[in-house]
Amino acid sequence: MNSERVNLTITVNGKTHHLQIPPHRYLAEVLRYDLGLTGTKVGCNEAECGICTVLVNGVPVDSCIYPAVKADGCLVETIEGLATNGAENGRIFRDRISPRVRTSYYRPEQLKGLHPLQAEFVRHGAVQCGFCIPGLIMTAKALLDANPQPTDHDIKVALKDTYCRCAGYPAIITAIKSAAAIMRGEPPLPVTIPESERPLHVVGTNVIRPEAVAKVTGKAVYTDDIQFPDQLYGRTLRAAYPHARILAIDTSQAEALPGVYAVLTAKDVPGRLHHGLVYQDWPALAKDKVRYIGDPVAIVAAETEEIAAAALDLIQVTYEPLPVVDSPEAALAPGAPLVHEEWETGNLLKHIKVRHGDIEQGFAEADVVVSRTYHTATTEHAFLEPECAIGVPAGYDAAHPRLTIYVGSQIPYADRNQVAACLGVPDSAVRIVSPLVGGGFGGKEDIAAQIHVALLAQRTGRPVKMLYRRDESLRFHPKRHATTIHIRMGAKRDGRITAVQAELYGDGGAYASLSDKVMTRATTHATGPYAIPHAKIDCYATYTNNPPSGAFRGFGVTQSAFAVEQTIDILAYELGIDPLALRRKNALRVGTTTATGQTLRESVGLIQTLDEVARRIAADKTPLNPGGNRVRAWGIACAYKNTGLGGGAPDKSAALVEVYPDGTAEIRTSAAEIGQGLVTVVAQITAEELGLPYDRVRVLLSDTDLTPDGGPTTASRQTYVTGNAARMAAGRMREMLASVVAERLDVPPGSIRFEEGLLRANGRRVAFGEAVQWLIDEGREPRAYYEYVAPVTQPLGTGGDMHFAFSFATQAALVEVDLDTGEVHVLKVIAVNDVGRAINPVGLRGQVEGGVMMGLGNCLTEAFIVEKGVPFTNVLARYKMPGIKQTPEIVSVIVEDPTADGPYGAKGVGEISSIPTTPAICNGIFNACGVRVLTLPVDQDALLRALRNGRLEVTE
Ligand code: FES
Ligand code: FES
Repeated sequence: MNSERVNLTITVNGKTHHLQIPPHRYLAEVLRYDLGLTGTKVGCNEAECGICTVLVNGVPVDSCIYPAVKADGCLVETIEGLATNGAENGRIFRDRISPRVRTSYYRPEQLKGLHPLQAEFVRHGAVQCGFCIPGLIMTAKALLDANPQPTDHDIKVALKDTYCRCAGYPAIITAIKSAAAIMRGEPPLPVTIPESERPLHVVGTNVIRPEAVAKVTGKAVYTDDIQFPDQLYGRTLRAAYPHARILAIDTSQAEALPGVYAVLTAKDVPGRLHHGLVYQDWPALAKDKVRYIGDPVAIVAAETEEIAAAALDLIQVTYEPLPVVDSPEAALAPGAPLVHEEWETGNLLKHIKVRHGDIEQGFAEADVVVSRTYHTATTEHAFLEPECAIGVPAGYDAAHPRLTIYVGSQIPYADRNQVAACLGVPDSAVRIVSPLVGGGFGGKEDIAAQIHVALLAQRTGRPVKMLYRRDESLRFHPKRHATTIHIRMGAKRDGRITAVQAELYGDGGAYASLSDKVMTRATTHATGPYAIPHAKIDCYATYTNNPPSGAFRGFGVTQSAFAVEQTIDILAYELGIDPLALRRKNALRVGTTTATGQTLRESVGLIQTLDEVARRIAADKTPLNPGGNRVRAWGIACAYKNTGLGGGAPDKSAALVEVYPDGTAEIRTSAAEIGQGLVTVVAQITAEELGLPYDRVRVLLSDTDLTPDGGPTTASRQTYVTGNAARMAAGRMREMLASVVAERLDVPPGSIRFEEGLLRANGRRVAFGEAVQWLIDEGREPRAYYEYVAPVTQPLGTGGDMHFAFSFATQAALVEVDLDTGEVHVLKVIAVNDVGRAINPVGLRGQVEGGVMMGLGNCLTEAFIVEKGVPFTNVLARYKMPGIKQTPEIVSVIVEDPTADGPYGAKGVGEISSIPTTPAICNGIFNACGVRVLTLPVDQDALLRALRNGRLEVTE
């Protein structure tokens, strides 16, 4: 390997460094790995996402592709240099890896000394997963240095090449304008959020994320920010074909390469070879055949990444290519090649059925019947933090007596169990620690590098880090299912829908992942949020040689809502009924029954969301005749989405609260914070229950040694399930403290009130910390644990409650179509969500803004393109996500129709906020220009062709 070094002198945040570096090193690598300034993040290595932005002599640059030698003699500014309250200047890696990696704590004084941009990003709730934030703030700093009074347009232009996938762009714009105001000596802009209708002491109020300050200062720790002095670097050799038999693997040359410590293949897996969240069909290392282009064939650990990469080139694999199954239709064709020869139903992973009423009778009763076929695309999560994992071998040091995996995970306990099974060791021999997660959206539920770093660490006896580059991330991880949906809907003349029949064909890709569950949700939601007396839905989830499909925000409902909500509009058109009125007539409400046979007894806020949207459209002043060759119209769509796993799956979460004599509390659970704001929610709930100020509660998440199992972060379940676990654990602690204090004060325990850090009764008061000390003095543990078990649900096909709660939503999109070009612009979205109770309105707004933007991308631009099993989308630049320039005005409105068992009435919001956006835009397109788009994403050239040729539908 080339060991040449060049001298580099740079001044970073005012401190000069003299370094010797390899000549090809990029500035981001020098900052992150040589200087330990890990606040600068890397998301793509291809100058596409902009999150690595730093300033060189005041000019913003993409440090991921900026040769470090170019910065020789320059002044470099990074996120760590902005704050004046203790900027870090590097070399902080190992010190951060205390067992309490995730302890979070917010104190108001932390905002002091921050740069106005940092403080305003925190105050306005512009920070979600946080991974993009350093790059956004540095880009914004360059803007404000040059332009102290930027307009919205100026901000959009400056940030047009810097992505935030959590997409709180409206909050980001406001935060930048507010910071600019402060820097001009003017008052900051007020924080405007949709407040809860019924705020309590802390729940429902505007609070700041405990981890937000760390995220805006560059101190937040994500997995790749952790580094061990003697760590090795892992790389993965992936399949050369989407479908092929492996005839031989020769690793001898790679093993002989100096600096290589291990080369492992399937034969080196000591335990169970396969992993999988539902079916264990996914080999940790491919053995006899490869089934998609991301299949891992061999893994390497080496002294440097360069050596590891070189070793991959030396591994010889002999393949026998096999015919490629590239679509559900091909998978189900007679005589199709089999992806999994041993699967009993061939390439049919699962046939999922919904039967309700008598479908023949339903259509016989209908006066009007419409039918269409819809196609949705494979889409990509594009979380900005690529997958990364570090395996630390058992016995490495005192802090790691057992095998430890650091990984940003959505399901830490499932990771632990799957790693242990593949290693052939008990679950208790493995510890999973999750640092912060730079976005997930469902894409970090499956195993990525966890098992590989475990195998390599155990084999080499040294820590091993695997960081996927963006191309590997795109190639490897599960996507949203491309789905074809044939749907037929019948209604009476008065608008009462009598029947829905549908067939769905979902591309599950090479391995099952969560296809069974995702496509079940697509099936059960294929009648939309409407009371349909007769329904017959069949879904075919298939194995193909495409990348696996799995969980993705919306969990299958995104696809079926696209079809249902456009078909409803088509039906309304045929019937001559207003689409909103048609929806209202058939809307689910208390007392109605879903297509799976569940009678809804409470918390059905759909009608309120429809009414709120109608009221706001009527009041909207945006001109609908822009002139020229542009046309505008509103489109609406509704949605519902289950909260929790449902379908009979046990759904539970545990939390533990510990209180301290200094008057603080810590709440612990293994539930992932992926940007959605769970840390804030459990801190608020704990503070509420214990009557503590919010800033006296710490949160510790996702360490399987220290925090109980909160279950998967999926199905919009964490606020409900883990929120309840936190609430009950804190309630138990409250009872313990009340009993101690009641005895000392000689009052009934029930008379004690917990308020603002005090316990009050009969005109007397005891400080919370003093009460804790009394508890300890009695020899009792100041800890309370609670495992919350959600209400029982029934499997599909058995009737009864398939889910314990649903969220409801209506969205309206104001769409403009350019008749000359076919371009579609979304000007405004009104998003009304029934969430039961808004526990954290700031976080909720972020979820809604991000959900709308993800729905907008799903509609207009996003497609992960695969040709014969080989991704064309192999770099981020080929995946078109909407950025700040495409951001419409987003009006977020909360409806709070509480659910009885949710914490304070809350149910999920993470997914519902994204589901109606796509069909609302498509209905808007039709209403504007008369062309219906049946295939996603909307192909604007095809739309233009349809406009020119007088065609009424786009099916391409
Ligand atoms: S542009 Fe540098 S990491 Fe994406
Ligand atoms: S906060 Fe921007 S990517 Fe998550």
